[in-house]
Amino acid sequence: MAQMKILITDNFTENGIESLSASADVDYQPGMAPDDLLDCISAYDALIVRGRTKVNADVIVAASKLKVIGRAGVGVDNIDLASAQSRNITVVNTPTANTIAVAEHTLALIFALVRSVAQGDAAMKSGRWIKDDIVSTEMGGKVLGIVGLGNIGSAVAQRAAGFGLKVIAHDPKKTDEFLSRHSAESVTLADLYSRADIISLHVPLSPKTQHMINGQAFAQMKRGVYLICTARGGIINETALLSALETGQVAGAALDVFAQEPPGLTAVVSHPKVIATPHIAAQTHQAQIRAAADIADEVLAALRGEPLRWKIV
Ligand code: MLT
Repeated sequence: MAQMKILITDNFTENGIESLSASADVDYQPGMAPDDLLDCISAYDALIVRGRTKVNADVIVAASKLKVIGRAGVGVDNIDLASAQSRNITVVNTPTANTIAVAEHTLALIFALVRSVAQGDAAMKSGRWIKDDIVSTEMGGKVLGIVGLGNIGSAVAQRAAGFGLKVIAHDPKKTDEFLSRHSAESVTLADLYSRADIISLHVPLSPKTQHMINGQAFAQMKRGVYLICTARGGIINETALLSALETGQVAGAALDVFAQEPPGLTAVVSHPKVIATPHIAAQTHQAQIRAAADIADEVLAALRGEPLRWKIV
């Protein structure tokens, strides 16, 4: 195995590098530019990335020795899966490493948005005491609609139920019994839109979910709904969101993810009814260490031809 070469092009914690180095030559090049990746990828048996590196068809064509791509994290929308599959390159991810971190950040955003925490903080920092201007809404008894009840959606549901929210969820891949075990009532998407006071998105970005939250979806939602997204930019049509914020159809949005990252100071980011964080939901020490450990094990298993836990293609 010592002859195997593994390239890591995004931030990765030391525990993962140590674990890989025991069995392979590891090049740790976080922040590698796309052209440099294209130039050097033919030398490697495995590539490990997070979300920043785009593993597109050009990279895959140039990767003449590549056997496995490891995604330290959940979303694989930055990897051209069809190209990888067509060249028999295995793609693996770490679907459980981030669950708690992302669920907790989702709850933090819900509270910060609905209880005006960020607005109050911004006013204090500009020397304004706006106590009388802020009268927010209690969360207890409000309806939280979760779109997508995978690992993260389920963890959000259970935590939100603990805060007294009534949780409804839509996930056509899950049984009603599964949803009920995770403190959620199973509903159609139309029901979710019409009943939820707060909507949190937990689906991957795919051609099916791209812009699923558009003008038509906003029109079906309750007036004054709050929208939370820690899943992927691109699921929400940001132009439609701006209109819905302007008309008051959406009372506020809390976003950790954007169509373009980094987005810069866009109209969405700077909107007074939007709380924005820089894709940090999974940025906890614990999640990063778990993701590095999990992907190191999985990539080494793939190189050895052993059974895999999290094979995407
Ligand atoms: C993920 O897909 O794992 C999260 O969005 C975190 C990340 O990409 O770093």
